[in-house]
Amino acid sequence: MTLSNTAILGLQWGDEGKGKIVNFLAGNFGAACRYQGGHNAGHTLIIDGKKIVLHLLPSSICHNDSLSLIGKGVVISYEALFSEIDEISNVTSGITDRLKISPACVLIQPYHQLIDLYKEKSNSQKTIGTTLRGIGPAYEDKVARRAIRVVDTLSENKLRPLLEETLDFYNFSIEKFFGKEALSLNSLIDENLVFGEKVKPMLADVSMLIKKLNEQEKSVLFEGAQGTLLDIDQGTYPFVTSSNCSPSGIAAGAGCGPLDVGNILGVVKAYVTRVGEGPMPTEIYDDLGEYIAKTGGEVGATTGRPRRCGWFDAVLMKRIIQTNSISGLCLTKIDVLDGLDEIKICKAYDSSSESIFGECMDLENVNPIYENLSGWKSPTKNLTNYGELPDEAKNFISYIEDICEVPVKIISTGPDDQSTIVR
Ligand code: GDP
Ligand code: IMO
Ligand code: MG
Repeated sequence: MTLSNTAILGLQWGDEGKGKIVNFLAGNFGAACRYQGGHNAGHTLIIDGKKIVLHLLPSSICHNDSLSLIGKGVVISYEALFSEIDEISNVTSGITDRLKISPACVLIQPYHQLIDLYKEKSNSQKTIGTTLRGIGPAYEDKVARRAIRVVDTLSENKLRPLLEETLDFYNFSIEKFFGKEALSLNSLIDENLVFGEKVKPMLADVSMLIKKLNEQEKSVLFEGAQGTLLDIDQGTYPFVTSSNCSPSGIAAGAGCGPLDVGNILGVVKAYVTRVGEGPMPTEIYDDLGEYIAKTGGEVGATTGRPRRCGWFDAVLMKRIIQTNSISGLCLTKIDVLDGLDEIKICKAYDSSSESIFGECMDLENVNPIYENLSGWKSPTKNLTNYGELPDEAKNFISYIEDICEVPVKIISTGPDDQSTIVR
């Protein structure tokens, strides 16, 4: 039996453990495909006890029999791409044979990273706490129809006039607004052309490749970056990233039809975390928050910033699940809650606050109402069998299933592949 194309994407504020789950499942698929975001992502895999953090490469990259695709919705920094390929080549061989990149991907240029940095450091009220990777400015260029794409770096005749016009625009801001030194056109052209030559052998029509794989009865795993609460349209705007990390981004970013995504699995942590600014109604401010952060190793995989921790927010999850065709959940990091006396789940916001919560995701002033569940005393860490879970942990899982109205299909009990329960 062939599996249908399946999406694995985060439903919270990122870092739910998507990388682990994609790597765990990738061997059953013909390819995994990143479809949005860029090297703002940090996806951690533990393979044979070795920790690997991926930013741009799909989490299938260590599977010799699967392809790794980067669809046109991803924004690529050539520098980040090639340094990651070099780094990961120490762990697995043949990367450049298995990696296929869409020539339609928008490039992150050095001026995008500068603008991201200047904006974030300018003390404006709108500090987002971005990863400073130039993601927002690159997507701005895409929408403004002035972006430089991978295909444009394959010939100087094409690249020069495009880059000249775009750089004029950026140098004006860099010099006049931020008071910094302008970037040189010629060195930027040279750099892009060198990278263009280097990327050429990996370029492919990712859209058609997905179709062909499907015709050969091989399915594709769509790997989300970030999480739905960071989605530009569905997240906690303006404290979001600049792409559609929810299922709505898959068809556009991978280059397939919406009906080609047969199965959408949402990855959720047993609690919530957030890096950067923005509301998180269930944030835990006391020692317990610090305990969870420490036990869960909640430090950003890309920027090394501490992640804020809070209780599982079933109100937000239910909304996201119901409005995004989510067919099941992968619940990660339940082992982090091992040994707690009591575990809270936010089951409602108090009625006075509910009126402002809605499509605008206005969460600044909502007050969570919690269900207090008994914690479990025997550890779940590294368990591989659902039957072995303590009753209280099973109860926690079925509470989430009941309130969110979807089944929990995969449970992760530790960072490595083996520590996974498939139901
Ligand atoms: P991603 O961005 O969604 O891929 O997640 P990250 O890699 O940024 O963060 C997840 C972190 O939790 C990584 O350090 C993983 O190794 C780790 N992790 C994943 N699943 C589990 C789990 O079930 N238990 C524990 N303790 N750690 C996990
Ligand atoms: P993965 O794929 C967690 C957050 C940043 C910031 C906001 C905007 O590992 O889950 P950006 O640089 O994208 O403009 O920053 O989004 N952010 C993430 N948080 N995990 C991520 O990726 C993130 N990528 C971006 O911290 O709040
Ligand atoms: Mg991450």
